[in-house]
Amino acid sequence: MHAFLFDLDGVLVDTARFHFLAWQRLAHQLGFEFTETQNEALKGISRMDSLEIVLKTGGIQATNEEKLRYAEEKNAYYLRLCSEMTPADVLPGVLNFIRQARERGILIGLGSASKNAGTILDHVGLRPYFDTIVDGNRVRKSKPDPEVFQIGAADLGVLPGSAVVFEDAVAGVEAAKRAGMKVVGIGDPAILKEADRVFPNFEGLSLTQLEELAAETK
Ligand code: BG6
Ligand code: MG
Repeated sequence: MHAFLFDLDGVLVDTARFHFLAWQRLAHQLGFEFTETQNEALKGISRMDSLEIVLKTGGIQATNEEKLRYAEEKNAYYLRLCSEMTPADVLPGVLNFIRQARERGILIGLGSASKNAGTILDHVGLRPYFDTIVDGNRVRKSKPDPEVFQIGAADLGVLPGSAVVFEDAVAGVEAAKRAGMKVVGIGDPAILKEADRVFPNFEGLSLTQLEELAAETK
């Protein structure tokens, strides 16, 4: 294991919940229901691609101008929800895990579809822990395309086979697999079926538990 690439939303911080609440609010404004189950398909997906899925769910036709307005409104509300975040909002066990990894000389990267990733990292004080940050401003193709993780590994100078990705999204797990990396799912094993290992969160997760995974060759 030479590098860890972390997704942000739903892995390091609970912003996946804020994304859901912001899309749900837009759906309500447009007059339809949007559930947590439907939201699962949006995880890891870019803002505009997510909007298309949300509008399709509600059977809404919109002009390009309206779409841009909806995306802006969703983002403004999302950022309002995020504005109160502090270092206390880093998910349990994350900081310990990252510190352990850094002590072992493992390089740390971020691989997120979010254009707000830098802002969130600053709110919660995580930026100094990262050797590289690849966010939605740097990628052209969103997950499940492997680009975000390929750029991350290239930035860190490691081969895909030496990188482990941490993901909470089905699209993110697929992206990591397509990049030829090992994937640790954070969340529900029934949803993250393609991940090599799944843990509910980082609490109690130690590097030792991942050594076996690193040794596996596929
Ligand atoms: C991903 C989230 O990390 O970022 C998605 O899982 C989100 O839900 C995407 O749509 C883009 O985020 P943003 O902050 O650029 O709208
Ligand atoms: Mg995520």
